[in-house]
Amino acid sequence: MEINHNNELLPSVNSLTNMDDYEQTYKDFNWEDVERHFTWYETGKCNMAYEAIDQHVEAGRGDKIALIYSDAKREESYTFRQLRDKSNQFGNVLRKQGIGKGDRVFIFMARSPELYICLLGILKIGAVVGPLFEAFMETAVKDRLVDSSAVALITTPQLLGRISKSETPDLKHIIVVGELENPDDSVISYHAEMEVASEELELEWLNRDDGLIIHYTSGSTGKPKGVYHVQNAMIQHYFSGKVVLDLRDDDVYWCTADPGWVTGTSYGIFAPWLHGVTNVIRGGRFSPQDWYSTIAKYKVTVWYSAPTAFRMLMGAGDEVISQYDLSSLRHVLSVGEPLNPEVVRWGYKTYGQRIHDTWWMTETGAQMICNYPGMGIKPGSMGRPLPGIEATIKDDKGNTVPPYTMGNLAIKAPWPSMMNRIWNNPDKYEEYFRVQGWYISGDSAYMDDEGYFWFQGRIDDVINSSGERIGPFEVESKLLEHPAVAEAGVIGKPDAIRGEIIKAFISLREGYVESPELKEDIYRFVKEGLSAHAAPREIEFKEKLPKTRSGKIMRRVLKAWELNLPTGDLSTIED
Ligand code: WTA
Repeated sequence: MEINHNNELLPSVNSLTNMDDYEQTYKDFNWEDVERHFTWYETGKCNMAYEAIDQHVEAGRGDKIALIYSDAKREESYTFRQLRDKSNQFGNVLRKQGIGKGDRVFIFMARSPELYICLLGILKIGAVVGPLFEAFMETAVKDRLVDSSAVALITTPQLLGRISKSETPDLKHIIVVGELENPDDSVISYHAEMEVASEELELEWLNRDDGLIIHYTSGSTGKPKGVYHVQNAMIQHYFSGKVVLDLRDDDVYWCTADPGWVTGTSYGIFAPWLHGVTNVIRGGRFSPQDWYSTIAKYKVTVWYSAPTAFRMLMGAGDEVISQYDLSSLRHVLSVGEPLNPEVVRWGYKTYGQRIHDTWWMTETGAQMICNYPGMGIKPGSMGRPLPGIEATIKDDKGNTVPPYTMGNLAIKAPWPSMMNRIWNNPDKYEEYFRVQGWYISGDSAYMDDEGYFWFQGRIDDVINSSGERIGPFEVESKLLEHPAVAEAGVIGKPDAIRGEIIKAFISLREGYVESPELKEDIYRFVKEGLSAHAAPREIEFKEKLPKTRSGKIMRRVLKAWELNLPTGDLSTIED
């Protein structure tokens, strides 16, 4: 099929490192050179929490601010020394219960300083952490605890009612952060235990292939799967923090993701703290005012967010931007779903910032294909592979295809942050590696003749209309360029004549009301801007579209609505 390729280029800027230099610097790239940065390169024994926190204290940076936390009620900051001491205490709290190396300990709570202290404490004793979104309901929590045989869970009084103790036989300890109305012996009080816990802890030294974290993520079929990562991932967290996030000593960094999503741990915790930078955490829900004031107040320099957030900010209008001083920003990045060219252009115009798209997955553990600081950005492209990463496009038989041909996005295995297993499900794990030596991502993409990768869709979302394969992302991007469209999700709707036609679900921007004329106008806009076969023959307006908490529009839910089918597992949906 023919690809509608966009050759627009936003030039690089000199305030950021230049990609050509990277190519020179990393010509003979070798992961072992990155490993040399870590003390464990000599000793062989590591611990993520030590590398992220303690080593900075030992190196004389103990008084530097590690964490700035704020939400509507709290505003607190913690130095690296304070985080070291508090996480030591929490490690002791866990050890007192007999919890230790390899045990799965889950965290089910909203963002707060305690969440970060607990997570570090879990890692310090060599246990494996399982972070869960606070919006999960009972079944979602239970499924994950049961599948992972978690022995302990940290939660808050508000969420305690969603934990079904009778159905989670391995769960022996529940630690509650916050005041309980009716305290009883079946739960442990975080505050009471922390009060008596020592700040001295003997760290559990680990091997690089010992456990770190389990993130549950949904596939196209079945229950969410437990993607298990090991300590070794820190090599890539550190390296991508350097070359993609461009982290420097005096940076104030803000990743907007919740730790229930891999972005909120790999890049909300590990990468920034491996670099010893000040990490901003904003709790609570999204609002343009809160978000811009967070940047302005803490003088955020590096900001990592997601397309949905950028689209909502775009939808909120440029007027609100002018009320905040965003001049501290040096580098802006995005992940999680396709970043529409329209959003990139808007970011450039309003913030004067190229929004750098980055592609990776829960399974890859860290960034893989990215727009590097300083490199020329092609709006709509996810960028180029990280040094040390080999990416290609393969057909269904496993053969590499030429540039501008759509196929399976595949990565040469292994790489340092590659998942170590799917918990309890070796078959699922093997499926990813069905082409010998390669990881098959499940995304379809093509590569251009300069080695930039262009996302097309999930393999299972590609639409076939009258024999034409259409990537929903392309249509959605076009729709977003229409002034009335705030959000759009596109699916293939079965059609007797064309096989499938394109159906668009659209939420409108403030100030627009639905009408047949508007539908017609949007249809023509895509037909004229893209092509007739890509234009949505059917449009349905919705107040809101179903989205995962990581911001992806759930096309499978749209499809289920359309076909009157069950929507399946909705445990990752936003509301
Ligand atoms: C999608 C996110 C387009 C993709 C860290 C991938 C993207 C899935 C991008 C992984 C991007 C992620 N452009 N699509 N820059 N980044 N995706 O596991 O389909 O929640 O396979 O991890 O999100 O989602 P996950």
